[in-house]
Amino acid sequence: MAEFHEISPNASAGAKLLNWVDNRFPLSKLFKEHMSEYYAPKNFNIWYVFGVLSLLVLVIQLVTGIFLVMHYKPDAALAFGSVEYIMRDVPWGWLIRYMHSTGASAFFLVVYLHMYRGLIYGSYRKPRELTWLFGCGIFLALMAEAFMGYLLPWGQMSYWGAQVIVNLFSAIPFVGPDLALLIRGDFVVGDATLNRFFSFHVIAVPLVLLGLVVAHIIALHEVGSNNPDGIEIKAKKDAKGIPLDGIPFHPYYTVHDIFAVGVFLMVFSAIIFFAPEMGGYFLEYNNFIPANPFQTPLHIAPVWYFTPFYSLLRAVTTEMMYVLIACVVLGAGVMVAKVKMPVLFKGIVALAALAVVAMMLSIDAKFWGVVAMGGGVVILFFLPWLDNCEVKSIRYRPDWHKYLYAVFVVDFVVLGYLGTQPVSPVYSRVAQLGTLFYFGFFILMPWWSRIGKSKPVPDRVTYTAH
Ligand code: HEM
Repeated sequence: MAEFHEISPNASAGAKLLNWVDNRFPLSKLFKEHMSEYYAPKNFNIWYVFGVLSLLVLVIQLVTGIFLVMHYKPDAALAFGSVEYIMRDVPWGWLIRYMHSTGASAFFLVVYLHMYRGLIYGSYRKPRELTWLFGCGIFLALMAEAFMGYLLPWGQMSYWGAQVIVNLFSAIPFVGPDLALLIRGDFVVGDATLNRFFSFHVIAVPLVLLGLVVAHIIALHEVGSNNPDGIEIKAKKDAKGIPLDGIPFHPYYTVHDIFAVGVFLMVFSAIIFFAPEMGGYFLEYNNFIPANPFQTPLHIAPVWYFTPFYSLLRAVTTEMMYVLIACVVLGAGVMVAKVKMPVLFKGIVALAALAVVAMMLSIDAKFWGVVAMGGGVVILFFLPWLDNCEVKSIRYRPDWHKYLYAVFVVDFVVLGYLGTQPVSPVYSRVAQLGTLFYFGFFILMPWWSRIGKSKPVPDRVTYTAH
């Protein structure tokens, strides 16, 4: 048990109260550890605000969600009407609903930027692998949360989007059809589906999400933050053990973050008040029509934040399978020919490649499309072990890495755009090339990240006072 601290009888009432609490709960200790004595690198830039903005959006979603649930009815016959009721009759209901719907898109926007920062500064690498893995878990949970939330307004897109995505699970060999039935709770998306999605959306997934966010931050604070130079500031400490390039998170970065929160809230409010539908990207027009199981909309597309992965799914056609098979054969061939390993291992690689090709030929393209879509997310978990570059930050990597990362961003945005569009021969081809690049970027990373000469990394972080 920690030592009991006495306080002077002349202390202020506030100090006495704090002392009383501190003797029973480590409030000041936690504040010191995570705020006033958490030493963050002094060279953080704009990319470092998206973690706090993700936290802010998480809180916005939780609070607005609680108020929406007060008026929303999770019943296939009443759901659509209850959302209209929130929009028209509940005082300020429209604001709460638009905050929540815009919040969903804002969440993905800030999280994508947050992840990209991790990518360019090598923040996923040792010793922050667990911070990254918890982050990837958060991303998966966030996708599940958004997908299930989208069914709740029970509009045409809610209904048909869920129908399309849940049906994908039935493409999984052996267990697929039963799994799809388990998720739906019925043979088609219906009232049972709405009820289970509601229960997952309002309680199960948010709990997981919160737990993961806490783990994410604890893991980060255990090892300390990375920075745009990718230099470990803990390697150079003063006599008191404080990193020479570290500054207390509070007040320096709390002020920094409050400013970012202010700018974010201005943009967020502008969207809520002037463009909550965002041209059909944040709220799809078809979702203002009540769900009709007898009428499939002409064009079904997920919300923008899912579309890059939806493009990966649609890119895998039977024709594309031949290209993928060629890639597997080529990859195994190169490994057997170039990599130094015992003959036995070479035989195992060749056999494994043959088994993969046989599997690819025997199961239809729809399933491999699902694998590509899931794989597009799952591959992120492996990033810490794929990158072999001798330096972390893009600043000191060979120059051509910058172009490669730029092409990656363009590829992701193009895949995202194509995912919103109806299929056409040209678009499909572009999406297929984009898919090959997306996976090539990650799968070939162990090889390409080693090539080229990195620039010398300075001993201390680069920082000019402003
Ligand atoms: C609800 C979602 C999330 C929240 C609230 C959140 C919160 C935070 C916060 C507050 C920080 C410290 C401030 C900063 O460095 O920006 C941070 C750092 C970090 N996050 Fe997240 N995060 C989320 C999702 C993710 C995801 C999806 C990933 C990656 C897949 C990720 C990877 C990282 C990494 C690698 C760091 C350390 C960055 C560095 O030190 O350079 N986070 N996160």
